[in-house]
Amino acid sequence: MTSPLLFQPLTLRGLTVRNRVWLPPMCQYAVDSHDGVPDTWHLVHYGSFAVGGFGLIIAEATAVSPEGRISLCDTGLWNDDQIAPWRAVTDAVHELGGKIAVQLGHAGRKASTEKWWPGYHGEVVPPEQGGWIPVGPTDAPADGEQYAGLPVKALDEDGIAKVIADFRAAAGRAVKAGFDAVEIHSAHGYLLHQFYSPLSNTRTDGWGGDFDARVRLPLEVARAVRGAIPDDMPLLARLSVTDWRDDGWQVDDSVELSRRFAEVGVDLLDASSGGNSSASIPVAPGYQADLAARVRAEAGIPTATVGMIWTAELAEELLQKDSADAIMVGRAALRDTNWPLRAAHVLGVPAEDAPWHPARFRGAWR
Ligand code: FNR
Repeated sequence: MTSPLLFQPLTLRGLTVRNRVWLPPMCQYAVDSHDGVPDTWHLVHYGSFAVGGFGLIIAEATAVSPEGRISLCDTGLWNDDQIAPWRAVTDAVHELGGKIAVQLGHAGRKASTEKWWPGYHGEVVPPEQGGWIPVGPTDAPADGEQYAGLPVKALDEDGIAKVIADFRAAAGRAVKAGFDAVEIHSAHGYLLHQFYSPLSNTRTDGWGGDFDARVRLPLEVARAVRGAIPDDMPLLARLSVTDWRDDGWQVDDSVELSRRFAEVGVDLLDASSGGNSSASIPVAPGYQADLAARVRAEAGIPTATVGMIWTAELAEELLQKDSADAIMVGRAALRDTNWPLRAAHVLGVPAEDAPWHPARFRGAWR
């Protein structure tokens, strides 16, 4: 039997990842100190996925500025005090056999909400209750009832320049913090998606209007981040490949933006979808794999696919079908941090060849 593709290494620039089961970025909203500094939770949480055999672990959406947080409890890389605590996390992951990237994000008009923990559903926190006035491409609030009461400030030229500079500076800190790669969050209705989607960017200056103007900010951010990280460090971008609406951003638009991302030095397109506007989404196991496949085939850039890929068999099938170069397993990994070890067993990888930590080896599935 040929060995499963899921457990073949993948090299991007100077980084070789031990397999193709990756952890997608997942906000923890666990920074109780509200200073963006990761703590014990983040160390244990990300360390556990390294022990569980994940190849590349992508740390949660980490804000490039305080106003770019979704909630007060988000992690950040907007100041130098945040570097050493992140370094403790990356050191732990490396010591445990994994690689770790960070997703740099700005929530734009979807900022200043409660943390998404039990009992909360992303309700907005107005300035008088400790929140802040978010920024966006225009002053229109984000789609969704809960955002209606929160004013939004349209970014002016200086504000846009600050966003680009904040991404650049945060990327430089990510390098100092020991991350192996950086991912730009340009999906799920957050700031960069707000700029490229025609549903949210109705500006008429050079940052909105036609396709070229709407993709300008994501491309400028990618260029800035690429310039702030070493040449041998991979750069990833997460895109909402479609808004799932006839009047929204289309897969063809993503193919073109992905081509341009590749030209400015993005190495892998992490293909997600939706999040900017209400839409009917055909959610099912692997439902975003065709999006990754189209970008991969038509833009000629490596992709990752994500979305209810909950069985080892489906993960392997998607790689065999050339849908993507890596598989991301999100919620299933929160349920079972050993997901890759279990998948290796299911796919017939001998325990000796699976990414077991030696201290756990006597418990290996056989
Ligand atoms: C997410 N997701 C997400 N996406 C992202 O780009 N940045 C983020 O910080 C987060 N945060 C987040 C938190 C939690 C708790 C969940 C469950 C999800 C989306 C996530 O990366 C992934 O794309 C989806 O969960 C779909 O994959 P699964 O869960 O079906 O495997």
